[in-house]
Amino acid sequence: MAKKTIVTEEQIAHQYEYMQFIARMNAERAQVRGEKPRAFTQTFGCQQNEADTERIAGMLREMGYDKAEKAEEADVIVINTCAVREHAESRALGNVGALSHLKKARPEVTICLCGCMVQQAHMPEKIKKSYPQVDLVFGTHALWRFPELLYRRLTGDKRVFDTTGDEGGYIAEGLPVLRDGGTKAWLSIMYGCNNFCTYCIVPYVRGRERSRSPEEIEAELRQLVAEGYKDITLLGQNVNSYGKDLEQDIDFSDLLRRLNAVPGDFLLRFMTSHPKDASHKLFDTMADCEKVAKQLHLPFQSGSDGILKRMNRGYTAAHYRELIAYAREKMPEITLSSDIIVGFPGETEEDFEQTRALVEATGFDMLYTFLYSRRSGTPAAEMEDNTPHAVKQARFERLLATQDKAVQPRQDAYLGRRLRVLVDGTSKGTEYPLTARTEGGLLVCCAGENLRVGEFAEVTIDKTSLRCLFGRGDET
Ligand code: 5AD
Ligand code: SF4
Repeated sequence: MAKKTIVTEEQIAHQYEYMQFIARMNAERAQVRGEKPRAFTQTFGCQQNEADTERIAGMLREMGYDKAEKAEEADVIVINTCAVREHAESRALGNVGALSHLKKARPEVTICLCGCMVQQAHMPEKIKKSYPQVDLVFGTHALWRFPELLYRRLTGDKRVFDTTGDEGGYIAEGLPVLRDGGTKAWLSIMYGCNNFCTYCIVPYVRGRERSRSPEEIEAELRQLVAEGYKDITLLGQNVNSYGKDLEQDIDFSDLLRRLNAVPGDFLLRFMTSHPKDASHKLFDTMADCEKVAKQLHLPFQSGSDGILKRMNRGYTAAHYRELIAYAREKMPEITLSSDIIVGFPGETEEDFEQTRALVEATGFDMLYTFLYSRRSGTPAAEMEDNTPHAVKQARFERLLATQDKAVQPRQDAYLGRRLRVLVDGTSKGTEYPLTARTEGGLLVCCAGENLRVGEFAEVTIDKTSLRCLFGRGDET
């Protein structure tokens, strides 16, 4: 296995020097123009990508850019891309295509493409040929070198491409980060994936699993709590294998216990878990730790053992059921969600029915259902796939209908109950003008004189729908 590389403090200091060069250039330009230059960021894909964009935004701020609300107003545009499904790629490329007008009108604007999509082997050529408006391309492994790459572009290099990076991948600490300042924050605990599920491109573009040190993670958590964040999600492609690459003897459950001991009024969530590595120890730890939300996102992908095997998932449907039964025994109130792929190559009607049956039998609060998307370079891309698209689509819709039917009674069961929620924003509705999340992560639209955004509150549920609970706080 390729080894991870820890970026040294000197290397990070070097990037800070580039940030200062650019900040000075921008300060001079701001004097001439009368306003600071602006940067626009756009993110496709998962929470990990959102967390990466927060680092990019942090570096941009350090380099003297204000935030632009629209690409049209920006001096620098950064599009952070996803490669998990074709749809995400075509949307990102469509947006880049649309920027060619902007580039013609304002050639001085810098257009950057980064993230998982550009890390694929065939992408640099494609961008070079078909997207001449793109100035700077950097893959997932080069994220920490963004200041240096931008500097090269701004000081004369025609087009800058850096999608190299050995597959072991990097750990870079100490980069600036710009979060949105709301109630929620992402906290990456590890990067990469070693699982090589046969449909998935992630291990090829994000490199091998590597864990941040528990000291760094705890320090970042303490900082977040001090800044007032109350809903903190630990991120990793497969958090259950946290620590396997560290010298210290620590696993994910140990990390949770350590973080649970940090003082403050906050909730810890985590994603994503893999059924192959989720253990009874994890569920015992969750049950024990009062700051760990009783919420579990445990993707099962398919209910058919034959398909699971061909997906290289490393568990059976029976094992999955056993895990859920244990988690529910320990935490009867736990909220469950899962990812499912419909239409994997060779999926028969019977395979699909097993998936549907698992959904019916388990009772999920939320499902993320995807149509299989062929990713070139993955083993599944070479598998025979004879099922017509229309058949896959029909299965997909049957699965959604099954889930909707299963979720309504689960939502209704909350009627009349008093729940602790974290109020996190405002909603369009006038009757319930605020939004909140339960400890289990369920969405609640709520109303009440005493409710404040950013604070925990108690609400009584008086209405439900498929996707939302509605509740009122106590009146004084
Ligand atoms: N096609 C469809 N869905 C996919 N996922 C990953 N790769 C693919 C693919 N090629 C889904 C899985 C995973 C989620 C993040 O995306 O369900 O859990
Ligand atoms: Fe992809 Fe499987 Fe890794 Fe998740 S665990 S990122 S689905 S390879």
